[in-house]
Amino acid sequence: MNKRFALVAVGAALALGLSACGGEGAGGGGAATPSANSAAPEDLTIGVAMPTQTSERWIADGDNVKSQLEEAGYQVDLQFANDDIPTQQQQLDQMISGGADVLIVAAIDGTALGTQLESAASQNIPVISYDRLIRDSENVNFYVSFDNYKVGVQQATSVLVGLGLLNADGSENPSAPAGPFNIELFAGSLDDNNAGFFFNGAVDTLKPFIDNGTLVVKSGQTEIAQVATLRWSQEEAQRRMENLLTGTYNDGSTVNAVLSPYDGISRGIITALQNNGYGSGSKPYPIISGQDAEIASVKLINDGVQYATIFKDTRLLAEQAVTAAQSFLQGQEPEANDTETYDNGVKVVPSYLLDSTIVYKDNITAALVDSGYYTQAEVDAGQTS
Ligand code: GAL
Repeated sequence: MNKRFALVAVGAALALGLSACGGEGAGGGGAATPSANSAAPEDLTIGVAMPTQTSERWIADGDNVKSQLEEAGYQVDLQFANDDIPTQQQQLDQMISGGADVLIVAAIDGTALGTQLESAASQNIPVISYDRLIRDSENVNFYVSFDNYKVGVQQATSVLVGLGLLNADGSENPSAPAGPFNIELFAGSLDDNNAGFFFNGAVDTLKPFIDNGTLVVKSGQTEIAQVATLRWSQEEAQRRMENLLTGTYNDGSTVNAVLSPYDGISRGIITALQNNGYGSGSKPYPIISGQDAEIASVKLINDGVQYATIFKDTRLLAEQAVTAAQSFLQGQEPEANDTETYDNGVKVVPSYLLDSTIVYKDNITAALVDSGYYTQAEVDAGQTS
């Protein structure tokens, strides 16, 4: 495998070296210009910067990227930054000074890495933005992610299905209940480009139901700045839900649905609800959405506490990141399937976007177990083994 890749790399170097050297980097601008690297994979190092290990999702992403790169023969420098921006900046500085040949970066704050990316570009190190778009820099070569607007549409769809306003297949339900239903909205971290995409997709989907009075945002908090959750923090989400329950819902009214953009946030919301008496007696849990199919939340869905999540297969995302890294090392532009959507403020970053799936209680097995993402035992236990 290593030898085969080395040959391919050498061939690519010969075939493409000339044009790659003269060509523009992905998306042009000041980004690193791909040039074939004739070194054997084992002599090449890929720096992988992940945001945090407090979320199981990023641990899985880190593991998947690392193991797939290692399988292809590369050296891997994988770092997690504890959701601390200076730590991530430092880790990138070290990867660059340590001679990384490609960087794969899931940013904590998408706007905070300009200096690091400039120094990467000056050394012709291609930068792949992983899941979260790095903003305000021309030194981003490629973006691998999911269709994030669609993820938001799916989150809102799952809420509408849970309330019976849409059929399970997402079609209109002619005998839908009239409501009104009280709903509260949560968004992710404003410094993460994805947060706006999720929120816009969701709100566009909920809007007709809000406009005709079927859904009521009782708190009146409908702007993303009012409902955002810094660093996607579970604790912060719990605090905001507690404030909503003691503020807006202290008149005997109940909350019927919560739009949540991420499983960690959903778990914070659920804790606040449980402390307030939801989930027992006359106060059933509201319909709560999520994202990432984190194992603890899959169990909550199985137990009927959370209503749904969005499954984004991190194995496939890792595969795209690895493919893109290999393309750059071979002096080629990675294959993009979207060259319009992800404008980072300076340029449109060529992207490869993957599809996502809504997971309800009744398709946990089909979506997550049959695909080998989790075992049935892990789903039952609510933790990975
Ligand atoms: C986003 C990502 C989501 C979720 C969230 C919190 O950038 O797209 O899937 O993981 O961060 O970690």
